[in-house]
Amino acid sequence: MADRPDPLPVATLPAAKPSLPHDSALLHVTGAARYVDDEPEPADLLHLAFGQSSETHAAIVAIDLSAVRAAPGVVAVFTAADIPGQNDVSPVAHDDRLLADGEVIYRGQPVFLVAAISRGAARRAARLGRIDYAPRPALLTIAGARAAASLIEPTQRMARGNAAAALEAAPHRRSGRFAMGGQDHFYLEGQVALARPGEDGQVHIASSTQHPSEVQHLVADLLGVGSADVTVEVRRMGGAFGGKETQAAPFAAAAALVAAKTGRPAKFCCDRDDDMVLTGKRHDFEIGYDVGFDADGHILGLKLRLASRCGATVDLSPAINDRAMFHADNSYWLPAVEILSERLKTHTVSATAFRGFGGPQGMLAIERVIDVVAAALGRDPLEVRIANLYGPGRDVTPYGMTIADNIAPALIARLRHDCDYDARRAAVGAFNAGHAVLKKGIALAPVKFGISFTTTHLNQAGALVHVYADGSIQVNHGGTEMGQGLYIKVAQVVADVFAVPASAVRITATRTDKVPNTSATAASSGADLNGMAAFEAARTIRDRLAGVAASIGGCEPSHVRFTPAGIVAGAETIPFATLCRKAHLARVSLSSTGFYATPGIAYDRAAHRGRPFYYFAYGAACAEVVVDTLTGEHRVLAVDILHDVGRSLNPAIDLGQIEGGFLQGQGWLTTEELVFADDGRLLTHSPATYKIPTAADRPARLSIALWDGENVEPTINRSKAVGEPPFMLAQCVLSALGEAIAATAPDRRAFPPLDAPATPEAILRAIAAHRA
Ligand code: MTE
Ligand code: MOS
Repeated sequence: MADRPDPLPVATLPAAKPSLPHDSALLHVTGAARYVDDEPEPADLLHLAFGQSSETHAAIVAIDLSAVRAAPGVVAVFTAADIPGQNDVSPVAHDDRLLADGEVIYRGQPVFLVAAISRGAARRAARLGRIDYAPRPALLTIAGARAAASLIEPTQRMARGNAAAALEAAPHRRSGRFAMGGQDHFYLEGQVALARPGEDGQVHIASSTQHPSEVQHLVADLLGVGSADVTVEVRRMGGAFGGKETQAAPFAAAAALVAAKTGRPAKFCCDRDDDMVLTGKRHDFEIGYDVGFDADGHILGLKLRLASRCGATVDLSPAINDRAMFHADNSYWLPAVEILSERLKTHTVSATAFRGFGGPQGMLAIERVIDVVAAALGRDPLEVRIANLYGPGRDVTPYGMTIADNIAPALIARLRHDCDYDARRAAVGAFNAGHAVLKKGIALAPVKFGISFTTTHLNQAGALVHVYADGSIQVNHGGTEMGQGLYIKVAQVVADVFAVPASAVRITATRTDKVPNTSATAASSGADLNGMAAFEAARTIRDRLAGVAASIGGCEPSHVRFTPAGIVAGAETIPFATLCRKAHLARVSLSSTGFYATPGIAYDRAAHRGRPFYYFAYGAACAEVVVDTLTGEHRVLAVDILHDVGRSLNPAIDLGQIEGGFLQGQGWLTTEELVFADDGRLLTHSPATYKIPTAADRPARLSIALWDGENVEPTINRSKAVGEPPFMLAQCVLSALGEAIAATAPDRRAFPPLDAPATPEAILRAIAAHRA
């Protein structure tokens, strides 16, 4: 990239690209889109199930699997001792066992693996294992782990100025705590992998994973072979949401182990209830705050303590908790601040990536602080939000990054106007004055989300583009499709390079043997990274084609133009397919790789300082809710969203991401409740007990508009990432619910102690506490 600093200068910027439908839309709705479990089953296929721990924390004293082996249909049973290489399915810390070895550290942990002729046979047999345990004390809660000083890594500190002194000097001060729950990913397609043994020790795995390269590397180490012997392929996932960034690996590894050991193809298609018990979820957090402020609501000093339940292993918890710290400023200038981040280790399933990756938890903390400040002063929380926004001379984050593109003030002002916030707030006040049982609330809050993997080296991508002699185009890249529309966006990028319709571009399944050493499709950066890598590959081929066209038209290659009517060279206009055929006859290569590494970012994790993000994506949302103060039930009446996607790569796809992200965030904060029993058992392990939002929970009125602007950085098409940021727009729902509850005792001058999720029980508790 060095010689091409700005591939898409602002002057020649294309407008937003067209709203093409998702490339698989028709296949999705007709049921013709193939997922791993839809693939025709090969002969001799084995089906897998894990034998799971019935203890929360215990030493394994003895394992007797004779009844499992004797069960009908069982072909093979494996334990940790059968693994030829490393018993490790972890992303970073080498502490996740595929099969427990010597001890179990959470209830439901895989202890042994059953291969049988049917899924039912495997699952029935898996219950017949007889394991003797010597129980050990188990830590289940944040408080319990803190008391035992059980951490996955030392407590991290990010600070600027003297928060303690600023708190002492501030005219007003409030402190408190609140808790927010975790979240199950509830992808529609559960965890699944199909492994096929090849010749000479090789294996091919069709996996529903966001991270094919990591699955490849883990399987290679597990089997004791080279990465070159393992191919991982992902056509699409039926949803992932971060839940298949690391959590797909054990299923793929189990299938690969059985394929290698038996020489037969093996499929692990996990049952929904088992999936919910076996796989990690969003981290639940407990927040402690101590804030000092002036009479206008300016935050002068702030101490935040962000404590999270990381579960039994490290997984991605360090980076997730870092991202919580990075987003504890949201859009606000914090002159004197100390953020402590406690990462607690418990005997629960290891928490993992989930849309926003810790960002939502950090952002919710500061939004609560703002609500508390506003309530203490009796002011409109929106005024307090606006008073604290970053601005000129107050534009450096607590981690030392200068904000170059602060559109938050303008974006908030526009949404405030467009959604008629002030009049509606007055109307809500009038409604509340006239109603004793029903109380309404309205809240408008911003989102600022940093785009890039904060682990700098992950910000790279590769692509492989083939142009065939008939003019059709195949694109492959390292990104995976999970429903977010990455494939159609990249197809549009490549089509524009050649000035052909997107329908001329075929995007093929992501495969580790086509593009190697890829990063997870995560951090919302799929289109930023892979779109640019594919752009680079396509441009290399276009330059070669331009040379061929120039010799036909008798002009300089730099004068050749690619247009929808054909390639214009001198007096000639050559159809794209004709030019490809001529290039082939002229022995010009029509295939190229492309590579992209995000420029300009660097982060010193030890000091928690630097520029971890290439840019920020912004948005704001306003929610109006009504609460039934007798039952604790609520409805979200209306939501208005204004969101920044830069120059969109596909407005229809982006609107879908915004709506889906918002609804998933609303679910996290209102209905989705994870309940672990005192013995460590997950009680909410099916849709019967765990409630994700349905169509009926969608706000009665939902309007979404795209901010008209472009990325200040030269990203592909000057677009911005959209996958995760809209999730956090839903925080205004929790604030609005708090406002409604506050209206039950309007003279209290306090924000109700409402924890998330705001289930009816939580709302009734908050009402009681607020009135008391
Ligand atoms: N949208 C759909 N439909 N399904 C998903 O699983 N995952 C989200 C988001 N949007 C997801 C989704 C998450 S967690 C991320 S990080 C991004 O998509 C990943 O894709 P991208 O980088 O291409 O935006
Ligand atoms: Mo998304 S949580 O980065 O997979």
